[in-house]
Amino acid sequence: MIIVLLGPPGSGKGTQVERISKELGFYKISMGDLLREAITKDDEIGKKAKNHLVDGKLVPDYLVLEMVRRELEKEKGKGDIVFDGFPRNLNQAISFDRLLNLAGKKIDIVLYFDIPFALLARRLSQRRVCPRCSTVYNLETAPPRSHNICDKCGSTLVKRRDDSEKIVKSRFQVYERETAPVEEFYKRRRNLLIKICSDGSKDEVWKEIKKHIEKKSYKENSNQKGG
Ligand code: AP5
Ligand code: MG
Repeated sequence: MIIVLLGPPGSGKGTQVERISKELGFYKISMGDLLREAITKDDEIGKKAKNHLVDGKLVPDYLVLEMVRRELEKEKGKGDIVFDGFPRNLNQAISFDRLLNLAGKKIDIVLYFDIPFALLARRLSQRRVCPRCSTVYNLETAPPRSHNICDKCGSTLVKRRDDSEKIVKSRFQVYERETAPVEEFYKRRRNLLIKICSDGSKDEVWKEIKKHIEKKSYKENSNQKGG
C-alpha cells in the first residue's frame, strides 16, 4: 500500500509517520528528514538544497524527484510505503505518478492533516528536535523526560532553523501557494483524499489514521480474494 501524508507545516505529519512506520511496518520516506540528512552529510544534493530549506522555500523538483527515485530503488519489493512531505506541488504530484507507474505501484490513500492555522504557529514555536536521531518533541505537548535532552539517545535538543517566526511565515505562504493545489488535485481529480482532524491529541489523531489504513487494507484484501 502507498500512503501520502499531506498537510501544512506543523500539522503532525512527522509525528504520525513514525507510528505508521513502527506500528504498521511501512517503509518511511520523509522528504524533509532526507534533505536535512543530505545537508548534514554535505553531499551533492545537500549542497544544492541547503539555502532553500534555510529560507523555507521548496527545493527544486529535480532534486526531490531524484531522492524519491533513489528511495524507491532502496525499498524495492518491500511493498508498503508512506510518504511524508512529498509531493508538494502539482509538478511533483504528476511526476510522482509516473515514477510509481514505472515501479508498478499506485497511491492508495492521501491523508490530509486538517488543522486551524492558529494552532500551527504555536506547535512549531514549541517544537524541539534531536539533531542525532531526529526524534521530535514539543515543550508543551510532548516534552522530553529531562530538560532539553533526547529520551532516546541523550543528545541535546535543538530548535529547527526553519522554525523561526519569520521562516514559518514564509513556509505557510509556500504551502498556500504551491501545496494547497495538490490537496485539490488528490481530492477532485483522483478521489484519494481523506481528511484527518489533526487538532486532537496525538493518540486521537493516530486512532483516526489507523482506522482509515485498516479500512483501506481490508477493502483491498477482500477485492483480491473476490478476484
Ligand atoms: P518538512 O521537514 O517536511 O517540514 P514541513 O512540511 O514544513 O512540516 P514540519 O516537519 O514542520 O511539520 P510536521 O507536519 O511534520 O509536524 P510535526 O509532527 O513535526 O520540510 C522542510 C523543508 O524541506 C521545506 O520547507 C522545504 O524547503 C524542503 N522540502 C521538504 N519536502 C519537499 C518537497 N517535496 N519539495 C521541495 N522541498 C521540500 O509536529 C509539529 C510539532 O507539533 C511537534 O513539536 C510535535 O511534537 C507537535 N505535535 C504533533 N502532533 C501533535 C498533536 N496531535 N497534538 C499536540 N502536539 C502535536
Ligand atoms: Mg515533519
